[in-house]
Amino acid sequence: TIATLWAALLGYGLGSIPFGLILARLGGKGDIRQIGSGNIGATNVLRTGSKGLAAAVLLLDLAKGFFAVLLAWRLFAQPEGAAAYFGPVPAAALGAVLGHCFPVWLGFKGGKGVATNAGVCFGLAWPLGLAYGLVWLGVLAASRISSLAGMCAVVAAALAAALLGYPAFVPVLALIALLVIWLHRANLKRLAAGTEPRVGSKG
Ligand code: G3P
Repeated sequence: TIATLWAALLGYGLGSIPFGLILARLGGKGDIRQIGSGNIGATNVLRTGSKGLAAAVLLLDLAKGFFAVLLAWRLFAQPEGAAAYFGPVPAAALGAVLGHCFPVWLGFKGGKGVATNAGVCFGLAWPLGLAYGLVWLGVLAASRISSLAGMCAVVAAALAAALLGYPAFVPVLALIALLVIWLHRANLKRLAAGTEPRVGSKG
C-alpha cells in the first residue's frame, strides 16, 4: 500500500543521515572514510581516538533507527494478519537500515547497519531490542570484537522475533541479518585470518 511506501521512504531518509561522517568531521577528525576500516560507524569513529564522538555516533545511529520505526507506528495504520508482514512498520525498519547502509548522499556507500538495527529492534518491540542489546554487549565483552558482536546480535534479533511471538517481524529481521552479514564480508575474512582488530587496541 501507499502507507508502506511512505514508511519505507521515511525510514530511508532518517537512516541515510551519516552521523559518523558528520560528527567525525565536526570533531576535527577529517573524513572518517579515510581512517581505519573506512566504515562510517561508531566502531571506526572510536579508532580516531575519541570515545565521546564514538558514543555520540552510536547513540545517534541507534536513535535514527528507533525513531524511523516509532514514527511508522504513530503515523500509519497497521494492518493485521498476513498484510502485517508488508505493513508500514517493517517497511520503515528495512528502510532505515538500507538508508544507513546505502545513503544516496554518499554514493550509496554507507555503514554496516549494526547500531541502526539496534534502534530498529527497540522500535519494533522492546524484547527484541533487549535480546539484541544483551547479545551485542555479551559477545563484545567476551571477544572485544565489534564486528563479531554485531553479527551475532542481528541474527539473535531475527531468532528472538520468531521465538518471542513477533512473526510479522521475522522476514524483515532475517533480511536485515543477511544484509548486515554480507556487509561484513571484509570483517569475516579478517576474523578467519585472525587479524580482526579488537576494540581498544590499535588497528
Ligand atoms: O558496525 C560496524 C562494525 O560491526 C564493524 O566496523 O569499522 O570494524 O569494520 P569496522
